[in-house]
Amino acid sequence: MKLVEARALTKIFRRPDKEPGLRGSMKHLLRRRFTTMTAVDAIDLSIEPGEALAYVGPNGAGKSTTIKLLTGIVEPTGGEVRVGGIVPHRDRQANARQIGVLFGQRTQLWWDLPVRESLALLRDMYDISPTDYQRQLDRFDEVLDLGALLPVVTRKLSLGQRMRADLACALLHQPKIVYLDEPTIGLDIAVKDRVRDFLRQLRAEGTTIMLTTHDLADIEGTCERIVIIDDGKIIYDGGLAEVKDRYARERRVHLQLGTPITAADLAARFPAAAVTPGEAHGEFTISFDKSLLTAGAVLTGVAQLAEVVEVRIDEPAIEDVVRRVYAGELNITPGPADAAGAHPPSASPTSAHPAGTHAASARAAYAAGAADARAAGVPGAEDVTGAAGDVDPAEEASR
Ligand SMILES: Nc1ncnc2c1ncn2[C@@H]1O[C@H](COP(=O)(O)OP(=O)(O)OP(=O)(O)O)[C@@H](O)[C@H]1O
Ligand SMILES: [Mg+2]
Repeated sequence: MKLVEARALTKIFRRPDKEPGLRGSMKHLLRRRFTTMTAVDAIDLSIEPGEALAYVGPNGAGKSTTIKLLTGIVEPTGGEVRVGGIVPHRDRQANARQIGVLFGQRTQLWWDLPVRESLALLRDMYDISPTDYQRQLDRFDEVLDLGALLPVVTRKLSLGQRMRADLACALLHQPKIVYLDEPTIGLDIAVKDRVRDFLRQLRAEGTTIMLTTHDLADIEGTCERIVIIDDGKIIYDGGLAEVKDRYARERRVHLQLGTPITAADLAARFPAAAVTPGEAHGEFTISFDKSLLTAGAVLTGVAQLAEVVEVRIDEPAIEDVVRRVYAGELNITPGPADAAGAHPPSASPTSAHPAGTHAASARAAYAAGAADARAAGVPGAEDVTGAAGDVDPAEEASR
């Protein structure tokens, strides 16, 4: 049985159209006008138990809203959703027991309490036995170095420390599925690596994961399936390996060389690559297609010509991959998983959504590098659909 099953799931937010000032408010009282915003547009999504899914797309695409719909924080405007047989927004409490959630942009820890107290509160809320609780704490200490953070008050935690504590909170009750909305946002390389290791471990243990990120390296080794959402619609659902093979082939080796050498010398050595000199003396970037050349071959070749002082190898971020998918290359064929019918709702991912059906302006802006499609949306917009479950309490509080 599928763990998550969403059919034509839709969320439309409404924002009051109000002129500024008291006059505007009075006018709005007399004549209420609203602008609507379709954040999630009739998506079909199913997730099998044990699956790890990357849910990606540009800013404002509808990723967080989907997660809020799946967690029951937000009530759908249309369509159906079930998680482990439960309708999340109808039975929030039962749903909370089977899910874990982390919103990287905000914390679920109690601000003025030490981390230990937040965890103890969650232990009581979820009825976790003392043995299970201790086992989980030991495990989090091992993989997230949580022990040192336990006595610290949340507001005194650095971002990386806070994220580690939040991960512990999301997983304390051993949920069936964990939704991670940008769990590495703003983290330094060392903490990112730690979180990524943790995700890989979760995956290996069979936890079902839905992961939202803007960084391809987060999903590496964790997710085999990638779902791309744009303007509220799913435009691709299939294998990650296929998307990467097709759109993330470029590698960049950044070098600091200690021997005088020119870009032309390097270019002559690597005809299949593009060589760009950096700003500082001896700095170069060599870009190549990984199917034509390897980073190892580049380094060996360069070492024969010059002394290599420093090296950095970049692979494209998921943002770049998604941008390429948008930039007119939408005819990506379904991955092997799709072809085998593993994800029937999206078996014909993009052919069902020809380019013209998307909000062309947002996509064009994105493809051009202006990734913040939120500008095309309704920043600071209020949801006034009236349902009590519609408004995210955290968002409410921050307003
Ligand atoms: N409570 C709300 N009221 C009104 N509009 C909203 C609300 N929450 C989100 N939106 C709008 O819905 C759209 C989708 O937002 P969402 O937060 O789901 O995007 P996202 O894909 O998570 O983006 P990001 O990558 O920036 O986190 C945006 O245009 C946003 O402005
Ligand atoms: Mg988001």
